[in-house]
Amino acid sequence: MMYTRIAGTGRYLPEKILTNFDLEKMVDTSDEWIRTRTGVERRHQVRDDQTTSDMCVEAAKIAIEDAGIDVSDIDMVFVGTTSPDLVFPNAATLVQQRLGIPACPCIGMEAACTSFIYALTTADKFIKADETKCALVIGAECITKLVDWNDRNTCVLFGDGAGAVIVKPSDEPGIIATHLGADGQYKDLLYYPVGVSKDLHKAGTDEAAITMRGNEVFKVAVKTLGNVAAEVLRKAEIDQSELDWLIPHQANLRIIQATAKRLNLPMDKVILTVQDHGNTSAASVPMALDVGIRDGRIKPGQLLLMEAFGGGFTWGSILLRL
Ligand code: COA
Repeated sequence: MMYTRIAGTGRYLPEKILTNFDLEKMVDTSDEWIRTRTGVERRHQVRDDQTTSDMCVEAAKIAIEDAGIDVSDIDMVFVGTTSPDLVFPNAATLVQQRLGIPACPCIGMEAACTSFIYALTTADKFIKADETKCALVIGAECITKLVDWNDRNTCVLFGDGAGAVIVKPSDEPGIIATHLGADGQYKDLLYYPVGVSKDLHKAGTDEAAITMRGNEVFKVAVKTLGNVAAEVLRKAEIDQSELDWLIPHQANLRIIQATAKRLNLPMDKVILTVQDHGNTSAASVPMALDVGIRDGRIKPGQLLLMEAFGGGFTWGSILLRL
């Protein structure tokens, strides 16, 4: 049996940090409200001239070095994002060219906050089909560029960043099971109203901003994240008590705590970055993975469950041994 193994990880966070106290000066909010409702204390924000592929390139360089490979070894690039630099070429193609990776399939995946889980799941299928020997998989987002900075309901939640992994085939697990899903009936609860073929003339106006019914998103997120964790464990016939780490999408501390509770996992088995990163959408899971590995908590051989939930709604989970 062929498995997909993570051979290296990296992350990039923009230099600029916005604390809750900075936001108090911008909208009618308080550090206390943001911390108690969301767990977020600070978040990073890109410069106006910085793009998603800029962040991807930085995160990827670190992952490539960590994996001990050369860019010429990479034969497939995936970038999961909802905030690509351009409509085309896709962000994966921009990254391929900028890193000097030889011409290869470059795939953009767009599934809001679940984009990285979609991308890594797809890379896993290509590896198992023997179509790639070394893939670069990135989740990255300039989500602060999609936020209305006068809307306290949303602007306090989000941050920017990029997380990257290098994956290779292996006889040893590896990714053990994956589960993806989406249901467009929830579209109106969380969406960005402007696109290329819809209301493009509104780009740059106040109407072009993330639109969210937070309370309703919260309830569906808690229910769905519990289910996607259970689903991937069921597929793998592995009991939740065997899990070493939960690496959840970092949208809200209370959502994460509710998911951990449903899995009977103590919070010291959960990698948390929401306090420092905010909700970085597609970047949140790969950045949390990188944080946990680099600070020495996540160790080779351990059993990890990664999961995410986002606009659509979309959702997904991956069970793997590092
Ligand atoms: N500062 C102060 N008050 C705020 C605020 C802020 N930043 N944002 C909203 N409020 C106010 C609201 O206006 C509302 O006031 P009202 O009662 O006078 O109308 C009050 O706080 C309560 O709002 P509510 O929406 O009920 O709060 P909540 O407990 O649901 O928390 C969220 C709001 C957004 C933090 C929470 O619903 C949430 O995290 N939802 C999920 C969002 C998410 O994860 N999205 C991404 C998914 S990938």
